[in-house]
Amino acid sequence: MAAIRIGEAASAPSNRSEYNASPDLSTNSSARDIIEPDSDNDSQSLLSSTRSLRDSVWEYIEENGRTYHAFSRGEYMLPNDEPENERLDVQHWIIRRRFNDKEHFAPLKNPARILDIGTGTGIWACKMGELFPLAEVTGTDLSPIQLEIVPPNVSFLIEDAADTNWGTKPYSFIHTRMLLGSFNDFREIIERSFSYLEPGGYMESQEMYPTLYCDDGTMPKDHAFCEWTRTQDEAAMKLGKPLRIANKLKNWYERAGFVDVKEEVFKMPVNQWPKDPEYKMLGRFWGQMLIEGLQGFSLALFTRAFGWTVEEIEVYLVKVRKAIADKNVHAYHKVYVVYGRKPTPEEQRAKEAKTASKSA
Ligand SMILES: C[S@@+](CC[C@H](N)C(=O)[O-])C[C@H]1O[C@@H](n2cnc3c(N)ncnc32)[C@H](O)[C@@H]1O
Repeated sequence: MAAIRIGEAASAPSNRSEYNASPDLSTNSSARDIIEPDSDNDSQSLLSSTRSLRDSVWEYIEENGRTYHAFSRGEYMLPNDEPENERLDVQHWIIRRRFNDKEHFAPLKNPARILDIGTGTGIWACKMGELFPLAEVTGTDLSPIQLEIVPPNVSFLIEDAADTNWGTKPYSFIHTRMLLGSFNDFREIIERSFSYLEPGGYMESQEMYPTLYCDDGTMPKDHAFCEWTRTQDEAAMKLGKPLRIANKLKNWYERAGFVDVKEEVFKMPVNQWPKDPEYKMLGRFWGQMLIEGLQGFSLALFTRAFGWTVEEIEVYLVKVRKAIADKNVHAYHKVYVVYGRKPTPEEQRAKEAKTASKSA
């Protein structure tokens, strides 16, 4: 697994006891065992191979005035710079508030090991570390953008979740949030999570569906933000990173083998149009977050998929920002929460026996 633990030197052995257990290699060799030096003494090669892995984790790519991850370069379309990290934290607080301050919906009982895939700044992982102080919480991401001061039971790995090796110990809870547009096929992440969970463990996804909804006919057909979501979708599909995953999760969880799969859908207004003070407040922050994130959502997608210039994109976004802020349009997003349980071996056997007796 090409993974680097944040704060750990890549060249140091990560497990000291394992290191000590290796055969004794001290230099008491007999005269006959004299080892001749190779005339081509390439002493740098080992050092440079570990360095390059470590350095690629910390490097970033500059593109059109924003920075992007260098590790597994080009796989993720949003920036990893300070404005984007601030946006992620604001997004965390709005979603959490919309969920009545819940971090998770799955009925967890003292989970021992929690994995947060695509953890971003790690803010959710830290909250879970506080909520379950006895749990070991790991957040993984392509970018080393995680908070520096974290609960003692929380750690981060720079790792591409598309890689098939997620370690050796099973997890009690695996979580994903806002990973739309991150993977070629999110079903693989669900299937891999299933195999890396202990029996009885839970997976949960909290994902926004990017299509705009409006129940009262106030959103015109040519609404600029609605049109932008179609353009965004076309770009993401062209680059092989689908965005419309949220409404398919329940089905994908069930097909992967999860049981007791539940789905809840939450409306999120795109600005302060609602009358209800709570929705008004949520809408104000959600709309502001969208307006501030819009450049980052658009730049890599539209330059890479369509070859648009930065100037063309900036001109296009002016009317999109105006449309997001238009209170006469009563638009909202849907945020899906889906969770399911990995069956125990007994449940699995009972299920297989039932299927066999049906087909007999
Ligand atoms: C929109 S952010 C969401 C962050 C966090 N889950 C949250 O809700 O605050 C998506 C994150 O997924 C990460 N990501 C995208 N593709 C990934 C991959 N293949 N492996 C690991 N992380 C990935 C990105 O670097 C980014 O930090």
